[in-house]
Amino acid sequence: MARTKITVIGLGYLGATHAAAMAELGFDVLGLDVVPEKIKLLEQGRTPMFEPGLEELLRAHAAGVGGSTGRLRFTDSWAELGDFGDVHFICVNTPQKHGEYACDMSYVDAAVESLAPQLTRPALVVGKSTVPVGSAERLAARLAELAPAGEDAELAWNPEFLREGFAVHDTLHPDRLVAGVRSARAERLLREVYAQPIAEGSPFIVTDFPTAELVKTSANSFLATKISFINAMAEVCEAAGGDVAKLAEAIGHDDRIGRKFLRAGIGFGGGCLPKDIRAFMARAGELGASEALTFLREVDSINMRRRAQMVELTREAVGGALLGKRIAVLGATFKPDSDDVRDSPALNVAGQLHLQGAQVTVYDPKGMENARALFPTLGYAASALEAVRGADTVLHLTEWREFKELDPATLGDAVAERHILDGRNALDPQVWRKAGWTFRALGRPTA
Ligand code: UDX
Repeated sequence: MARTKITVIGLGYLGATHAAAMAELGFDVLGLDVVPEKIKLLEQGRTPMFEPGLEELLRAHAAGVGGSTGRLRFTDSWAELGDFGDVHFICVNTPQKHGEYACDMSYVDAAVESLAPQLTRPALVVGKSTVPVGSAERLAARLAELAPAGEDAELAWNPEFLREGFAVHDTLHPDRLVAGVRSARAERLLREVYAQPIAEGSPFIVTDFPTAELVKTSANSFLATKISFINAMAEVCEAAGGDVAKLAEAIGHDDRIGRKFLRAGIGFGGGCLPKDIRAFMARAGELGASEALTFLREVDSINMRRRAQMVELTREAVGGALLGKRIAVLGATFKPDSDDVRDSPALNVAGQLHLQGAQVTVYDPKGMENARALFPTLGYAASALEAVRGADTVLHLTEWREFKELDPATLGDAVAERHILDGRNALDPQVWRKAGWTFRALGRPTA
């Protein structure tokens, strides 16, 4: 029997990684994106975003790269896609709608509308995008209406849990695989596609459509809640004079709580957690279940309050008025090892300070280009040392390794005032204080 052929629709963080990972697993893969520049880059084994290990994987398999396996090709033709694939993964994004909490399904809908008419033989269409519960049911009906293959063109839902910065690892070695299916054939095809991770021990959980969709939104809601929980404890520590970093360490030793995702700071951002909890609340409202998720509103507001608290700490550090004060901001991306600045807490804080009249200079190891495009009015420097030159206060807002390795003495010679505020609880207060700095962090004692 011929090996299953795979297509991937939407070549962003999720799709580009999925396509390269499927080629790595030995499949012939055809990727489609509606942005021609993206295809051109990917064909050369390059990516429009920074994701560790992804370009290496693309270069190993992209047909346009000499010496590659040639298993990975790209196209902009829906007809070619329909003709080629047995399993079609939908990996387009589902951003927050402008001015609303709900998520924008237009890219997913367009993918199904464009692909379905091309499906003239048996095919499995697999949704991976994060969608409101109930979407798979609706899309399955649309597929049945539009696909010439009729019932032989089937839908499955297979949410993706990859983290930016670890996307390649998470795709090849997932913690678990979730398959929302309606037939034994769909389950068999997905088991075949994921045979290697399953053999390596990734649990394969078979569910109905709504459960598969909900696994993703509930997992992200849990993670957001855990972060906001520890940030709420940081607020209490600030009021009571406690140390949230020690508190997190101590409660994290309880296996039932666990140590991960308990780092207090300026909170969560990025293209997933914030918009996913909002879309989940919006969907629960439509389903008449809004009360079940009212706590997520609190999770969201704790998260946003931390950014405001960072601005307040900065104001205190510079003596009460931000106007004209020079603030160095280390970090622009929403987390390290990524160039993603979508809903970045770091850039949000930098932007608030700028709007209140401070002179803000930002440095980030990988996010400068995206940060400049989003906030062109901020100042940007080519290195951490350059950013802090003459600063009245230094803010550490994304915990890149490069910042942990900074020498407080060298930086101390460059700044106007030795004040540093750690918005990520990732620097060692003792080291900085020893070098003569005033060190403050969210949820921790002042000395
Ligand atoms: C998240 C989920 O982890 C992933 O499973 C899902 O597929 C997509 O959404 P990602 O957006 O890449 O992944 O980032 P993640 O590592 O979850 O971090 C999200 C945000 O939380 C970051 O801004 C990070 O700085 C913040 N965070 C994380 C904290 O503030 N404290 C922590 O302890 C952990």
